[in-house]
Amino acid sequence: MVLTAEDRKLLTAIWGKVSGHLDEIGGDALNRMFMCFPSTKTYFPHFDLSPGSKDIQVHGQKVARALDMALHHLDNVRGTLADLSDLHAYNLRVDPVNFKLLIKCFHVVLATHLRGEYTCLAHRAVDKFLFAVAEILGEKYR
Ligand code: HEM
Repeated sequence: MVLTAEDRKLLTAIWGKVSGHLDEIGGDALNRMFMCFPSTKTYFPHFDLSPGSKDIQVHGQKVARALDMALHHLDNVRGTLADLSDLHAYNLRVDPVNFKLLIKCFHVVLATHLRGEYTCLAHRAVDKFLFAVAEILGEKYR
């Protein structure tokens, strides 16, 4: 992952600002993904996918907490996400194109929460981080 020292600083600062709302942010991002990109629903046939459902909230927490964990291990994101990478590739068979859809949603949700504080440079740092996560989660998919 090519995160510069400046990216890391921005990333840590931005994450710090939303750290009290991570669960909500995860849920909002998932809600948005299911609304804007309905094909992503096919992976969750067993969920109640109505907007704001308990299933979405609970799953949003899991996703946000995994990102939080990765962010706290920026020098070993691959190792930190190894089990999730296996799960998404071998068990869930999530086509990597879907990670990019979720990333778009995270940006909108973060911008909505942070408004002017979500500067272009912060956006770029978060994008690099999420892209690296997506690459790791999708790299075993064949
Ligand atoms: C499950 C993280 C993207 C589909 C999970 C779990 C986590 C997670 C932490 C729970 C694992 C467990 O319970 O052991 C992430 C992260 C993502 C991401 C960090 C990207 C930033 C996606 C995308 C899709 C997807 C884009 C499909 C559109 C699933 C499915 C499950 C799952 C179907 C299983 C849900 C269940 O049955 O409980 N993911 N995920 N994930 N993920 Fe992802």
